[in-house]
Amino acid sequence: MKRPLPKVGCRPVPRTLRSRLIAGMLTMLVLTCAGVGLTTTDTLRHFLTVRLDQQLTDTGGRYAASLERRGSEDPAGEPDESSDTRAQAPGTFGARLKDGTVTKAGVVDGDADDAAVEAGDVAADTDDLVRLTPRDQQALAALVVGGPAADVDLSSLHRYRMHAIAGHDGDVLVTGLPLRPVEDTVHRLVTVELLVFGVALAVTGVAGALWIRWSLRPLGRVVATAEVVSALPLSNGAVALSVRAPDDDPRTEVGRVGSALNRMLGHLEDALAQRQAVEERLRAFTADASHELRTPLASVRGHTELALRHRGPVPAAVRHSLTRIDAESQRMGLLVEDLLLLARLDAGRPLAFTEVDLTRIALDCTADARAAGPEHRWCLALPEQPVLVSGDADRLRQVVGNLLTNARTHTPQGTEVTLRLAAVRAGAVRLTVTDTGPGIGIQPPERAFERFVRGDHARSRSSGTTGLGLAIAHTVVEAHGGTLTVSSRPGRTAFTVQLP
Ligand SMILES: Nc1ncnc2c1ncn2[C@@H]1O[C@H](COP(=O)(O)OP(=O)(O)OP(=O)(O)O)[C@@H](O)[C@H]1O
Ligand SMILES: [Mg+2]
Repeated sequence: MKRPLPKVGCRPVPRTLRSRLIAGMLTMLVLTCAGVGLTTTDTLRHFLTVRLDQQLTDTGGRYAASLERRGSEDPAGEPDESSDTRAQAPGTFGARLKDGTVTKAGVVDGDADDAAVEAGDVAADTDDLVRLTPRDQQALAALVVGGPAADVDLSSLHRYRMHAIAGHDGDVLVTGLPLRPVEDTVHRLVTVELLVFGVALAVTGVAGALWIRWSLRPLGRVVATAEVVSALPLSNGAVALSVRAPDDDPRTEVGRVGSALNRMLGHLEDALAQRQAVEERLRAFTADASHELRTPLASVRGHTELALRHRGPVPAAVRHSLTRIDAESQRMGLLVEDLLLLARLDAGRPLAFTEVDLTRIALDCTADARAAGPEHRWCLALPEQPVLVSGDADRLRQVVGNLLTNARTHTPQGTEVTLRLAAVRAGAVRLTVTDTGPGIGIQPPERAFERFVRGDHARSRSSGTTGLGLAIAHTVVEAHGGTLTVSSRPGRTAFTVQLP
């Protein structure tokens, strides 16, 4: 029987179609969610950053410039429009750099007022403390003047979007807007997305699994049909293949598989019926032919016997021919009887079941064998109690006789042949014929149960055997519901009959 090749490696790949479909669906869903999530997040971040950059451009350097002016401001003077920090968004950062060094830095606080700090120091006149470390100052100095805005991470503040422009007196004015609102918005979106995608995955996973299971149900029915068919004893011939796949709607894939299976079963049924008919015809022919041959054969034998009994002078050559005709017609008679018996057993002709004493049969057959082959050593091992089975006495006698005849005719003189009879478990009976001969010259030895199969040794014998003895024994034992098995090697050949 052909078996599928084993899988190489041991990756945990789902095996059933259903689990593969569910796994594939979930994987695609996860990939889609990830793609959508990443794209929306990125788009939102980009959009918010562009808006922040626009705000920075609108703000310009007004706040940074105001810081410097305020440092030298006349307390009685009017603040000009450019230094009005109340127009600035809370959290706006400003710094003025001179020759790469921060001279003033401040942040507009929540009350639209600002805190100003000396570079590297804490402002004394404000409660919003901003400390610029040398690293912060370096980061500010590294900004490209007049270039695009960039993200700067100040150690004392959060991440900022910074923009640097050139001042009027060779200084650099840096303005920054906090990135925290952008990040907060993006985080909120990510949280919502994770929640929505998680729920969507769970719902789709469960609903999809149920849907796939439901969709594959017809396939399960087709498989069940195929399994029922594969369990039928098709070799038996007389099998009605009435089982059919219920799903054969040609509009669906599974339906097409089902209808193909049903068509195949129909062909198979036809083929089996034809084979059955041919076999029956052949059996009937063999039975009829054997039966019809009996009468002319009996006539041939009768006339041969008559001719041999003729008292007048018969030439020696004619007598020899008559003797050969007698012997061969006897052999042919046995062959015809064997063929007739096989044909009847094949046709399922019922056996004449009675209570049979196997011990008696064993004793009689061994006595016959001893008489026919006195040069062999015959041993008998019988249990104390008589062994009784239900069966056809004549046929069982034929089985034991065939096995003992084989042990005599296919082994050299002096071979020890043992017939052992034993009652085994649950009322079963075992009869074994063992010999110490050279073994069966047929490979495998079970082939000896086939019809007309003989070993080369038996073939070349001048007496000639037919090769039907074991076939008949096998068929008879099976007709009794038992088994006939063989094991053979040089020095020990054993045939075992097991009867229920
Ligand atoms: N005890 C045995 N030892 C060795 N070979 C055996 C033995 N029994 C059977 N065989 C082999 O199995 C073959 C088939 O046996 P089977 O009894 O079917 O046919 P046969 O003895 O040749 O002819 P038939 O019994 O029909 O007269 C034999 O030809 C022989 O080669
Ligand atoms: Mg034989």
